[in-house]
Amino acid sequence: MLFIGVDLGTSAAKLLLMNEEGRIEKIVSKEYPIYFPQPGWSEQNPADWYQATTEGIKELIAGSNKDDIAGISFGGQMHGLVVLDEEDNVIRPAILWNDGRTYEECDYLNNVIGKEALSAYTANISFTGFTAPKILWMKNKEPENFAKIKKIMLPKDYIAYMLSGVHCTDVSDASGMLLFDVKNRCWSDKMIEICGIKKEQLADIYESYEAVGTIKESVAGELGIPPTVKIVAGAGDNAAAAVGTGTVGDGMCNISLGTSGTIFISSDKFGVDKNNALHAFAHANGYYHLMGCMLSAASCNKWWMDEIIGTTDYKNEQAAITKLGENHVFFLPYLMGERSPHNNPNARATFIGMTMDTTRADMTQAVLEGVAFALRDSFEVAKSLGIQIERTKISGGGAKSPLWKKIIANVLNIKVDVIESEEGPAYGGAILAAVACGVFKNVEEAADKLIKVVDTISPDPELAAKYDAKYRQFREIYPTVKDLFNKII
Ligand code: XUL
Repeated sequence: MLFIGVDLGTSAAKLLLMNEEGRIEKIVSKEYPIYFPQPGWSEQNPADWYQATTEGIKELIAGSNKDDIAGISFGGQMHGLVVLDEEDNVIRPAILWNDGRTYEECDYLNNVIGKEALSAYTANISFTGFTAPKILWMKNKEPENFAKIKKIMLPKDYIAYMLSGVHCTDVSDASGMLLFDVKNRCWSDKMIEICGIKKEQLADIYESYEAVGTIKESVAGELGIPPTVKIVAGAGDNAAAAVGTGTVGDGMCNISLGTSGTIFISSDKFGVDKNNALHAFAHANGYYHLMGCMLSAASCNKWWMDEIIGTTDYKNEQAAITKLGENHVFFLPYLMGERSPHNNPNARATFIGMTMDTTRADMTQAVLEGVAFALRDSFEVAKSLGIQIERTKISGGGAKSPLWKKIIANVLNIKVDVIESEEGPAYGGAILAAVACGVFKNVEEAADKLIKVVDTISPDPELAAKYDAKYRQFREIYPTVKDLFNKII
């Protein structure tokens, strides 16, 4: 049997073909555009996702025995609002997870409905990227579009729907909507009422490893695969990445360095961060997790390399870095505002500390370090809850850089376990498909059998101490410039 994992990311769909032994047969990536129609807004066309997915699948399976394909599943960018009308047409472009337009609606949810009530209903508070405030935004700002809504979906669920005809979602992705009672793994009637919608407008909920149906005959014909192929619910990209890195036991950690940066801590018990700086979501293995999410991680490096210094040779650029632990330049990585832990859509990126002898390499280094320091902000929140983390897995495009992994190990002062492939969400998606097709008893068994650590980066005590001092300086920058951000937007 063969399984397809689709990572419906923000910059591209990454598709992966895995066999029953967990071996990756092929990986294909298909990019699509992202639109920033106003500062802080971020949108994509669901049709682009679907085209990238179907073209990607065709390319992925060319050369394989198509009759062996048994299941398709997903790791999808979370929180995005996809709305369909009566005829199942997309009403407007999807509003993405890193979109900051809903600050008024968040203010209403957090301060009028109140954080305590939200936390009681959903285990979380409102952040601008979450789905419920976007629904309220549509209700307030685009009432004609709001009136047309028949179904509210998340990005990967739109693809599952196009492939299977089933309006489905999974518990991990549903958790990020602020419409989901995470503890009880069901929709929250209270939140449905607050958002002025009806339960019928929401999708049916599945565990991530459950099949929602089989592929539509017409689509199977177009792709040249059997109509028996199972479409499996899948997970939000972070939960899928956790599956793909074997982060499924109690107190395990995965760091994802994708467009966003996340610290994901898996847990066997439901628990809420009392300050709501970390999200409390359902995990793809039937349990729970806590997560801190920064909105710009590997995207800071991409922005710096591609847009600012104009190079595609990231390796060469990073090879010039010489001042680990001794850089005087700092970078606040808030190119799209920030979620965890600041919850401030108006936060902006900043370089600070340059002098006449500052080099391009120092600034490149500051970008990598700024992301690591910002991840440590969430890590510190987890520590303050009494969670002890001694090691982490790592995944996402940024995890390809040995230097960045070293910086992260030393800034967080924990061991970083490197696994065979950093393709977290796509590999996790393929594993979820294999579980649904009965190859493994459950997600834990699959992770145990398939995920192997191939290298560990241990922090160097001297460098970690230097970074600890630097982190204390970094921490002072945001509170100092915070008020200015509201004036300069
Ligand atoms: C998680 C989050 C991001 C997106 C990126 O809460 O918003 O990690 O899922 O794809």
